[in-house]
Amino acid sequence: MKTRESGMPDEGLWESFFQPERTLRLLGLSENCRTAVEFGCGYGTFTIPAARIVSGVVFAIDIEPEMVRATAARATAAGLSNVRVCQRDFVAEGTGLPDASVDYAMLLNILHAERPESLLAEARRVLTPGGTLGIMHWNYDPSTPRGPSMDIRSRPEQLRTWAESAGFVTACDQPIDLPPYHYGWVMRRPR
Ligand SMILES: C[S@@+](CC[C@H](N)C(=O)[O-])C[C@H]1O[C@@H](n2cnc3c(N)ncnc32)[C@H](O)[C@@H]1O
Repeated sequence: MKTRESGMPDEGLWESFFQPERTLRLLGLSENCRTAVEFGCGYGTFTIPAARIVSGVVFAIDIEPEMVRATAARATAAGLSNVRVCQRDFVAEGTGLPDASVDYAMLLNILHAERPESLLAEARRVLTPGGTLGIMHWNYDPSTPRGPSMDIRSRPEQLRTWAESAGFVTACDQPIDLPPYHYGWVMRRPR
């Protein structure tokens, strides 16, 4: 089932909201990571820079054929051979990745899902012990130019609580400011 309010505007508008490489680095992605997964890759806004950072493969999952095609085409155009794009419903079927198989998981602009706890549990399952989860979400502020409705938009503390309940340990004291419109958390799967 496609996550509520997860449709995308046109690519140029979407990408005007982000500084993807800076964001990924602030969210703990580094060259020390081999493999990564993105839940809901959209246009590949974060998949492509992540693939330039990691030493291995980035798995990019999306339910929409158009998004799968867009991300795959970008990877090809960029000469990246380490992006594995997959059309799949991660709500209904999970990621399909083995337990403890990736070093870094991305839950970016997706935790307004109906059951965020299940996405967090799946991220924990696929992460290696000591692996990192990067979370980014729209600020809890009705004046942002996009983002989920306020009644399903989480405050930073709520996302932290859900992630900790799913078995993550928070790796930063405060939410990370990702201007102009986002915040983030870095979480670790305990060893
Ligand atoms: C708001 S976009 C975020 C895209 C990307 N993470 C980013 O921040 O640029 C959410 C994406 O998740 C995808 N999506 C929503 N529900 C999904 C599901 N159940 N399984 C796989 N992909 C899903 C949507 O098609 C959309 O491309």
